[in-house]
Amino acid sequence: MKKVEGMQEFKAFFGVEPTDLFTAAGRINVIGEHIDYCGGKVFPAALNLRCNVYARKTTGKTIRLAFRGIDEIVELDTNCLDSYKDLKIGNYQAGVAYYLQEEGVSIVGCDLYYDCTVPFGSGLSSSAAIEVATAVALCEYAGVTYDKVNLALISQRAENKYAGVNCGIMDQFASAMGKKNHAVLLDCATLQYEYVPLSLGEYALVIANCNKPHNLVESKYNVRRQEVETALKALQSKLNMRCLAEISPKVFAEWKHLLSGVVAKRAEHVVMECYRVEKAVQALKMGDLAELGRLLNESHYSLRDLYEVTGKELDALTAFARKEPACLGSRMIGAGFGGCTISIVKKTEVEGFIRHVGKAYHDAIGYKASFYETSIEDGITVEKLL
Ligand code: GLA
Repeated sequence: MKKVEGMQEFKAFFGVEPTDLFTAAGRINVIGEHIDYCGGKVFPAALNLRCNVYARKTTGKTIRLAFRGIDEIVELDTNCLDSYKDLKIGNYQAGVAYYLQEEGVSIVGCDLYYDCTVPFGSGLSSSAAIEVATAVALCEYAGVTYDKVNLALISQRAENKYAGVNCGIMDQFASAMGKKNHAVLLDCATLQYEYVPLSLGEYALVIANCNKPHNLVESKYNVRRQEVETALKALQSKLNMRCLAEISPKVFAEWKHLLSGVVAKRAEHVVMECYRVEKAVQALKMGDLAELGRLLNESHYSLRDLYEVTGKELDALTAFARKEPACLGSRMIGAGFGGCTISIVKKTEVEGFIRHVGKAYHDAIGYKASFYETSIEDGITVEKLL
């Protein structure tokens, strides 16, 4: 939706013009999957697919929410922000407002219209984009200066405790802290980070959505978290360690016998994926894209065989991508079980790549994948409209 349309939509709902546009980004993750909640390093980047919030401060005590494509307005009373956990839409916003209030931010009334261009359920973090954009709007109207990392943490808290999804910090951090044309190498144990130029020369990152219908990603995600917790506890009985990401592949090989069954497989993924992140960042810095592509493939195989979060759709989409000579590597991103893949593809061949992979996927799975034209952008933007 163009900006003028967003402004008109706002006016159609609330009768006046919006004064501000706050946006926060959806994200990809180059590599480092399912390790943020194990204290590992991840490597996400913010997208031009974003949550756009057209906004205006009001004098009341009510936050009014309107959404693209939905007729009703959802109202949140700022005096009882803890009472909206069961909302189907608006609970992320209520959660963010609630935890900001708990931090001492004085939440004031405002009207917010959401045009989220991050596809829902795609693994591109629409929820983080909604949370972070809302947090920015509420802080701006409360007149407080905010630290973006803190906004990411509050957004994560809202998702964990208010919406009940036990996610790590990667998505909200990328959404708030992303930088144009860079990926963020984020140490999830310390929140130290480094921006690394995502320069792929003659190559582009192609994002594809397998479009698998929604299938209880949250509950399966929470099970994986319990499994790695179990692994950590078992290893801690013999080793002095705070998180799984701390141990090297060598140490893991020595102590793996303490673990069994799926718990051993999950832990092995985490340890090896952390190692791959280091290698991938080195490869990118050296311009060795073939090596980066190889590591992306390895990451996918590990998510498929050890972490078991892919499924036939994501496996097919990445396998068809790898068959294309113009593709250096391909893997699923995000929580998995559905959602998106990224592939490194020669720029001049992207069109053919999309055609071939799209057709092969449709023939094999019975419905279409979507391909998105994207760019890497800043996480948060703030713009005055009036
Ligand atoms: C989801 C979560 C993140 C992260 C990824 C997997 O996107 O929100 O915190 O755990 O899955 O890497």
